Amino acid sequence: MKIGIDKIGFYAPHLFVDMNELAVARNIEPEKFTIGIGQEKMAIAPITQDPVTLAANAALEILDEQDKEKIDFVIFGTESGIDNSKSAAVYVHRLLGINPHARSIELKQACYGATAAIQMAKGHIALNPDSKVLVLASDIARYGLNTSGESTQGAGAVALLISAEPKILALEEKSAYLTDDIMDFWRPIYSDRAFVDGKFSNEQYILFFQKVWEQYKEKSGFGITDFEAICYDLPYTKMGLKALRTILDQGTEEEQQRLLENYKVSTKYNRMVGNIYTGSLYLSLLSLLEQKEDLADGSRIGLFSYGSGAVGEFFTGILQSNYREHLQIQHHRELFEARKKVTVPEYERIFDNTLPIDGSSIELDTDSDPAVICLSGMKDNMRLYINKLNQ
Ligand code: COA
Repeated sequence: MKIGIDKIGFYAPHLFVDMNELAVARNIEPEKFTIGIGQEKMAIAPITQDPVTLAANAALEILDEQDKEKIDFVIFGTESGIDNSKSAAVYVHRLLGINPHARSIELKQACYGATAAIQMAKGHIALNPDSKVLVLASDIARYGLNTSGESTQGAGAVALLISAEPKILALEEKSAYLTDDIMDFWRPIYSDRAFVDGKFSNEQYILFFQKVWEQYKEKSGFGITDFEAICYDLPYTKMGLKALRTILDQGTEEEQQRLLENYKVSTKYNRMVGNIYTGSLYLSLLSLLEQKEDLADGSRIGLFSYGSGAVGEFFTGILQSNYREHLQIQHHRELFEARKKVTVPEYERIFDNTLPIDGSSIELDTDSDPAVICLSGMKDNMRLYINKLNQ
């Protein structure tokens, strides 16, 4: 039985800041951000969007009534969760009206959370072939104004429907994974900003990739020649390229060209959104599938997932017949076109405009947010959400 990705949804908030303008404001050469880091636009979450609403909006575009009946497991991968006890999945489960007889949980291991969720979903479907699992990958990446990580922030979510006989990508058996207890990036419970040793995390990302790639080759007998493309977890679009370059000499000139060309396509959406942590790898996959018009059915795609701290995994999938017919290409084009640029001072105001943490109530203006699902306020230490379709 084939198991894999049946549908892919994506959502990014409607605001962005231009990286050239951010560079000028920070007295940095724009090319450092646009070439050195490889980012053009950075999505900014207004106060009415949090990881729950981003995920719910991403899932909204893909789920039909039959899916909502069949989903019996909702797994939410995030590293910017809103509660230390209740899972973000439970909120999304209600906001979307999913079958009550479902399990709903949150998984955490930095950017690796959604990959763990997919592997868990795969096992669940193997035991329950008729069911479907909704995997959500949603985050708001915040390092702080004027920090070295500022250019690698972003916000957004990817929703994946995992099922038997998937219409987009069938996951293959072999995968390689690795854990090592390192401090390259972490966020203590008391902090709303991440701490990072940027250079060390770059090094570890590459090292993890090399190790799982070698282990994968041993386990599978496959090599570069067997891959049409490799997608990477992308904290910024230059990162995956650095890792890819370290294995390119294992392929012929033609294979190197193919992987480099497809890598570029796989970073298009990420360049426009920024870092979305758990969803970054899947946004890159989406970018490749939607932006590369002649990617043949049956192609093998490699996926490298890296979650600081750290866990890495290399796994693979095969594109299914007519997979392009099941993508939301037009919808995503409209989503990007409808976004609104904010100036750097506006971005700074939005960044500093955070929810109360002293238990006081707040009512938010959801009319200025075009998203269907929004955070409408806080009362008695509880977040309040609305789905405008139900009003
Ligand atoms: N034109 C073109 N490129 C330029 C440039 C210019 N004018 N100025 C600098 N660059 C290049 C640098 O050469 C460097 O490229 P390289 O990495 O290929 O050598 C790149 O821009 C970044 O410059 P650097 O000085 O290393 O930036 P930084 O000290 O601000 O740190 C990060 C960059 C990514 C480490 C930092 O943003 C960060 O910590 N981010 C969060 C953590 C993260 O994303 N980790 C990734 C693994 S999970």
